[in-house]
Amino acid sequence: MKDILTLGIETSCDETSVAVVKNGREVLSNIIDTQIPIHEKYGGVVPEIASRNHIEAISRVTKLALKTANVGLKDIDAVTPTYGPGLVGALLVGVSYAKALSYAIKKPLVGVNHIEGHIAANYLTYKELKPPFLCLLISGGNTAIVNVKDYTEFEVLGKTRDDAVGEAFDKVARVVGLDYPGGPKVDKLAKEGTANINLPKTHFENSLDFSFSGIKTAVININHNTKNINKADLCASFEKAVTEVLIENVQQALKQTGLKTLAIAGGVSANSYIRQAILNLENENLKVYMPDLKLCTDNAAMIASSRIL
Ligand code: KG4
Repeated sequence: MKDILTLGIETSCDETSVAVVKNGREVLSNIIDTQIPIHEKYGGVVPEIASRNHIEAISRVTKLALKTANVGLKDIDAVTPTYGPGLVGALLVGVSYAKALSYAIKKPLVGVNHIEGHIAANYLTYKELKPPFLCLLISGGNTAIVNVKDYTEFEVLGKTRDDAVGEAFDKVARVVGLDYPGGPKVDKLAKEGTANINLPKTHFENSLDFSFSGIKTAVININHNTKNINKADLCASFEKAVTEVLIENVQQALKQTGLKTLAIAGGVSANSYIRQAILNLENENLKVYMPDLKLCTDNAAMIASSRIL
């Protein structure tokens, strides 16, 4: 059978990324041009600035992705941009560029849902992974427990009712004085602390939904009201409480569905404490999958693999 090469394009937030993926599983190139240094000084992503930088980067990043993969546009079988969810102006840059490219090379345009892309990152790390499995999706914009019934069939079993877990990490980071994006910095600082501060953990009765606004507010108040608070202890306590909530809901979802395979996805799945907690769940009845660290946060390889499996 002929190999299928997809050109993935990801511009949903602050990364301009283009990738070439073979048969939905093999990454030939995955160029990520990050805007983090540009947005750092604002403490978060500024949508208009993100869009403008995507426009400046997209052609250069595409050329580099093709060159790195050692292929030309004539070899591409489908163009797959992220169509949403994300920042609308930023998405528009990737989708418009992909549309023009697909028209010019006369190859199909296949829009990809960003969340489904995050889940597909697991297929790039584990060639043998097949649905059905349960996926804990934890990113900057979303938090959900998803029953992956088939490659393109998903059932959301529970989701956040307010903040995404990554959003809470970034807010806590800002409160304790760490730069954007704060998640990785909270992860690092927490290692130097002890989880000795009691924080609220929200559970809903008969529901797998999450809520992280309460714990976020508690961290803000404790930080504000306690003199000489140990910031490492506060980060460690926050990380532990959030992880416990995630794990409890995941265990409940595994019980409800009877699934024996668990994957994680999204930027926060790069968190070392959460990865260890997920790994601890593995036993003879449960197999655990975690994407490579570089595939956890936004990238176009996961987008290119999502619809061609
Ligand atoms: O998946 P992603 O790249 O973007 C979205 O699709 O939302 O996730 C970005 C989020 C940010 O909130 C960032 O702080 C968080 O992932 N993140 C982490 C870690 N690495 C990235 N959070 C906690 N620990 C980490 N090591």
